[in-house]
Amino acid sequence: MTIKVGVIGCGKIGDVGHLTGYKDCPNTQVVAVSDINEKAAKAMAEKYQVPHYFTDYKEMLAMKEIDAISVAVPNFLHAEMTIAACNAGKHVLCEKPMATTLEEAQLMIDAAQRNKVILEICMAYRYTAQAQAAKKIFDSGMLGKINSVVAVFGSPGPEFWSPEGQWFFNKKLAMGGAMADLGIHLIDVVRYLVGSDVSKVCGFTATHEKKADVDDSGVCSLLFKNGTLGTLFSSWTYKPGGMYITFFCEKGTLYFGRNPRYDKPLVVELVDPPSTLLPELPAMPESGTRYQHFIHCIESGQSPMTNGTEGMKALKVILGLYESMEKGITVEI
Ligand SMILES: NC(=O)c1ccc[n+]([C@@H]2O[C@H](COP(=O)([O-])OP(=O)(O)OC[C@H]3O[C@@H](n4cnc5c(N)ncnc54)[C@H](O)[C@@H]3O)[C@@H](O)[C@H]2O)c1
Repeated sequence: MTIKVGVIGCGKIGDVGHLTGYKDCPNTQVVAVSDINEKAAKAMAEKYQVPHYFTDYKEMLAMKEIDAISVAVPNFLHAEMTIAACNAGKHVLCEKPMATTLEEAQLMIDAAQRNKVILEICMAYRYTAQAQAAKKIFDSGMLGKINSVVAVFGSPGPEFWSPEGQWFFNKKLAMGGAMADLGIHLIDVVRYLVGSDVSKVCGFTATHEKKADVDDSGVCSLLFKNGTLGTLFSSWTYKPGGMYITFFCEKGTLYFGRNPRYDKPLVVELVDPPSTLLPELPAMPESGTRYQHFIHCIESGQSPMTNGTEGMKALKVILGLYESMEKGITVEI
């Protein structure tokens, strides 16, 4: 059976993420796209040979043949569109951050459950060979307990990613800035690798360079339920940008991402006997890409690795950080 997909949002991630990603999914066909900008919808339909395009996503949801929907629009629209798609009986792959409030996130989870459809949130870094290899290393016990984590993810800013995407700088449309955009990836992948939920968060945000009413930089301290400590830093003022995470463990250190010390995506340093391991990474993550995983979950009925509950946990930490900044307090998660 072919799974038929509709993509809402023909901007940057709709193009280089979803429409590109579904090309590599077996038994999958994108049959419609939608964007309020008709030119963008038409151009995307032509580029990917998609038979239908719409300016009103609700008309696309009315297409009976569509099984699944990608939501790839500005953050404030995620909840409305996801809930409408679930109520139309479609499975949903929604971009991150999943929503702008916890109430919206819960309504999305409820809508998916009520309609018995899959809801996956695009927490992209879990679907990487390096994250999945790091998880295996931690699970093997080779490094012992993770005591603390320092994580950094920065870019020069959304204007270098999607020049049309002015909404990124507007709090009403985006909810948050660099921390909601990039920091949320760090929170998700660090939660996954630490294997524990965040218990408390406190932090600071700033707007150093961008004309925006959201943060272009932020830092937060995390206390995990298992005792691990973390510091996360994200910014839109990094030139040229990059992601690196260091896990300081009982029996050594794991370097994840393009860290300053090694030009390798994953490095393990062990204390006893002193040794450095450079794990071979497969070309593809075992889970498949986030698009392949979504299709697999639709076919198998399995809950996605980054389902609505997981997306909401990451969102809760980001909202906790913003509350911490606003009130000058430590926030319980
Ligand atoms: N998972 C990732 O790694 C990743 C990376 C980049 C962006 N994102 C997320 O993807 C989402 C979109 O980001 P982007 O960079 O593609 O932004 P973008 O500005 O490039 O594209 C957004 C598109 O949505 C369209 N749109 C706006 N309102 C609409 C509506 N009512 N109906 C239909 N279309 C509408 C716009 O016209 C535009 O084409 C955001 O939530 C962002 O956080 C995720």
